[in-house]
Amino acid sequence: MSTPSTRRRHAILRNAVAALALVAIFVAAGCGALRDDKGRPLNTLHPRGEQAQEIDDLITPVFMIAGVAFLFVEGGVLFLAWKFRRRRDDEDGVDEPVQTHGHVRLELAWTILPALLLAGIGVFSVKTIWKLQKAAADRSLMTVQVVGQQWWWEFRYDTDRDGKPDVITANQMVIPAGQMVRLEIRSNDVIHSFWIPELNGKKDAVPGRTHSWSIQAFKPGLYQGTCTEFCGLSHALMRMEVKALPRAEFDQWLQDQRKPATLPTDPTPDDAEDDSPVLAGFKTFQAQCATCHQLDGMTFDGKATDGAPNADYLHNRPAANRPNLTSGNAPNLTHLMSRNRFAGNLFDLYAKDGSVNTVNISSWIRNPGAMKPAAADEYRGMPTLGLDETQISDVVAFLSTLK
Ligand code: CUA
Repeated sequence: MSTPSTRRRHAILRNAVAALALVAIFVAAGCGALRDDKGRPLNTLHPRGEQAQEIDDLITPVFMIAGVAFLFVEGGVLFLAWKFRRRRDDEDGVDEPVQTHGHVRLELAWTILPALLLAGIGVFSVKTIWKLQKAAADRSLMTVQVVGQQWWWEFRYDTDRDGKPDVITANQMVIPAGQMVRLEIRSNDVIHSFWIPELNGKKDAVPGRTHSWSIQAFKPGLYQGTCTEFCGLSHALMRMEVKALPRAEFDQWLQDQRKPATLPTDPTPDDAEDDSPVLAGFKTFQAQCATCHQLDGMTFDGKATDGAPNADYLHNRPAANRPNLTSGNAPNLTHLMSRNRFAGNLFDLYAKDGSVNTVNISSWIRNPGAMKPAAADEYRGMPTLGLDETQISDVVAFLSTLK
């Protein structure tokens, strides 16, 4: 039979093991943290934009107040536990501390003091929320539509405000540095959450709703983000980045993005033998990829258009030609190579030396499910098309031209 002292030893051991496990989990989580382009973990405590600074200005004093309260309360608990610990010769019902139950002044004090503290924090919190919402509601700002999809983010720019997007891109949102940008956040399938920790807090993307949000980056740079609402199989692999450019470079970017894709022409349509890899890849793209992936300037069945992106590329077509996709959408690839990464901002499009990362792109086309679980058999994510190696390298050659 176990004695009280062995039971106590077991309890101490159990708690020590639990505490160690907890520390190990935190350390592991820290090591595995998503990192930005400079190797820093995504960190909401390093504000690099106006909104993030507002939030930081709120949480720093709140953390300090909470820290003082924590030290006071925990210090009190430890001190009292030590002072009134059970001693060897204590007798039950005799050697007990004086009970203070019903001490009106004490109870009023520890009710009113925390209430005042929380009310004070509440006032500043509400002020910050109002400030953040003010920018989000300002319709005079440049607006980017953000669409959550399983498992990547789409960004739409309607620069002439005619209700139709002029630019549709994916994974990387480009904004002018120093300028507040309004976001309209939606979802095409399930609930996602948009979060660029260095620029602002999170905002959920909820099907059937449009949530307004805003971001601003003080300086040009790359700001990483990740989906923060569990949205299915590849939730943890649903990332995005914001690229803030100096104003002139942003204007140039926008101008370039508005151009339709540069597509190869076939000088000898009757003879496929002499097709270059780029041309052969383009033909395979027309036959296999254009069903889901949009190129501005081309319809899903390979016909030329005026060049503007089609906001409902997959939906506005005869049912017989509509691919079975849960979100009804796949990334617009018109200017694919202007981005850094693909497939939910996971894989580099370029190698370290600046050349096109053909290994990544061809591996993806060969077997996307091996690189990122996507349940393509349930019409989610990129399917395996079963292309042969020549077709794959031709498609990669063609995709590499989509600058
Ligand atoms: Cu999208 Cu999690």
